[in-house]
Amino acid sequence: MTTEVKKPSHEVLKQAAEIIMQSGVVGVPTETVYGLAANAYDEKACAAIFAAKGRPQDNPLIIHISDLEMLERSARDIPPLAYTLAEHFWSGPLTMIFKKKDIVPYTTSGGLDTVAVRMPDNEDTLNLIKLCGVPLAAPSANLSGSPSPTSADHVFEDMNGRIPLIIDGGECKAGVESTVVCFTEDGGIKILRPGVITAEQLSRFADVVTDKNVFLKPDEREKVISPGVKYKHYSPKAEIIIVEAENENSFASFVNQNKDNGVYAVTFGNESGIELPAIPYGESAEEQAHNLFAVLRQTDELGAKRAYVRCPEKQGVGAAVYNRLLRAAAFRVIKV
Ligand code: TXA
Ligand code: MG
Repeated sequence: MTTEVKKPSHEVLKQAAEIIMQSGVVGVPTETVYGLAANAYDEKACAAIFAAKGRPQDNPLIIHISDLEMLERSARDIPPLAYTLAEHFWSGPLTMIFKKKDIVPYTTSGGLDTVAVRMPDNEDTLNLIKLCGVPLAAPSANLSGSPSPTSADHVFEDMNGRIPLIIDGGECKAGVESTVVCFTEDGGIKILRPGVITAEQLSRFADVVTDKNVFLKPDEREKVISPGVKYKHYSPKAEIIIVEAENENSFASFVNQNKDNGVYAVTFGNESGIELPAIPYGESAEEQAHNLFAVLRQTDELGAKRAYVRCPEKQGVGAAVYNRLLRAAAFRVIKV
């Protein structure tokens, strides 16, 4: 199959909708990362997503909607709190988990009785969903295990020959995937995956807890609420090691002691005295989120064998960056 990459236009969106209504898969831009989109109600189409990514069958997909009617068609027992969060954060990078209705096939929900729903903040993709008239199931558009794609080029790298069309909407704004939450029995919110919508922002509306698996290596035998957390994730070929340093100087002296061929330092960009080739990923957590996946892909382009990454903050948006980095690093953290 040849893979076309096209800038969005009405014609291109119509072509994409036709592919999707014939059970095909299309690469689409969102404000977080690119997605691999198919008709969420079409079992065969969702099976094609899993095949294109090489994704384990029990890892459920998020469905993307363009209005609340699509939420109500797909989910039941929607709590009032969900409508409040939808009003404040949709369209935007917040995914909420509900009990699913029968219309959502188990292929889409990874065999679960629940469904994850979000309304993306991208005009072209919202228009595509409207043209299709059904929610679009879309995981991140990378091969399973690779860093998520934040540009159409990244999608092409992973999906060339596997899908017919990628809509090129430019670089993704946020750069990390949506915040995934579920609702607790006592009326609170539980964060299953941190994103650019932070615990602090959500806590204006209800009590917020963060699932322990967000920062911990999940026990292989344990049944996790969000199956995505148990898989190897976001990993480039280089060995990634997080360096939790007290300050700029301790970071520099540690990496300088480990100078070698093919070894890189992923820095905030404001450090001095780094003697290794440095790849900056940003000083603020927002910049780091925006650049993280592109930087991980860059380590592969450079043929790096190892990269020492300066540890981000663990609060606010930094929690999302740290969560992705921990998985890319297979939980290797060195404190200096
Ligand atoms: O920003 C995003 O969320 C991007 C864009 C494309 O929308 N999508 C994305 O999808 O990151 P994916 O499939 O790469 O990650 C979905 C995450 C996984 O960790 C999965 O296990 C979890 O959401 N998830 C999906 N449905 C769930 C459910 N019913 N219950 C618990 N976790 C669920
Ligand atoms: Mg993913």
